[in-house]
Amino acid sequence: VFLTQDELKKVAAYKAVEFVESGMVLGLGTGSTAKHAVDRIGELLCQGKLNNIIGIPTSKKTQEQAISLGIPLSDLDTHPTIDLAIDGADEVDPQLNLVKGRGGSLLREKMVEGACKKFVCIVDESKLVKYLGGSGLALPIEVVPFCWKFTADKLGNLFRDSGCVARLRNDCKGDPFVTDNGNYIVDLFLKKDIGDLQVAGDAILRIAGVVEHGMFLDMATTVIVAGELGITIKNK
Ligand code: A5P
Repeated sequence: VFLTQDELKKVAAYKAVEFVESGMVLGLGTGSTAKHAVDRIGELLCQGKLNNIIGIPTSKKTQEQAISLGIPLSDLDTHPTIDLAIDGADEVDPQLNLVKGRGGSLLREKMVEGACKKFVCIVDESKLVKYLGGSGLALPIEVVPFCWKFTADKLGNLFRDSGCVARLRNDCKGDPFVTDNGNYIVDLFLKKDIGDLQVAGDAILRIAGVVEHGMFLDMATTVIVAGELGITIKNK
């Protein structure tokens, strides 16, 4: 049977929820793949197959979804250590480094997933790349709105040799896209491999005006990939 991309996302999400145990504090991801995982957690809670779960949402959207499913919620201030987070990604490289944030939730995702003992990333096989940026889609950077053009220019210049183009993300009305934290997103279109990712990430963070970047380096402990030929589980 031929599965649609959304069905593959659901397969990966349901597999990840098998790692969830009663009593866990869970990081709840954002995006069309993570949505399936949150739905499934809600369903298992409702059926009494899971209990005593506390969810830490990574966006306002996921918070609303979890509330509608009756998943008890808390935050990082109250629960600074999370047992397990489940979230999607936009790109996964062979070392399990990720690009995230095309949905705009990278800052809260990075805070929550950085506080997890285990971070299970769920993707369909279209997300696998040889190097980050390799899909031709953007590397998202959250920036403060104040003089965002100045910050975007600095970001573009950082990777000028890679033919990088930096563009402010707009919403569907053509206004700047505003994150849950009241910031903007500058999308970096990288034309080729940017080399040492840690060095690149540190250089991005040194630019005043940058809040966070969408590279999640050495954070995923497991990546579940759903493809036409079945599920592959990659562990760190
Ligand atoms: C949200 O900001 C993102 O990091 C998403 O987790 C990521 O973009 C994956 O989204 P999809 O599952 O919708 O592809």
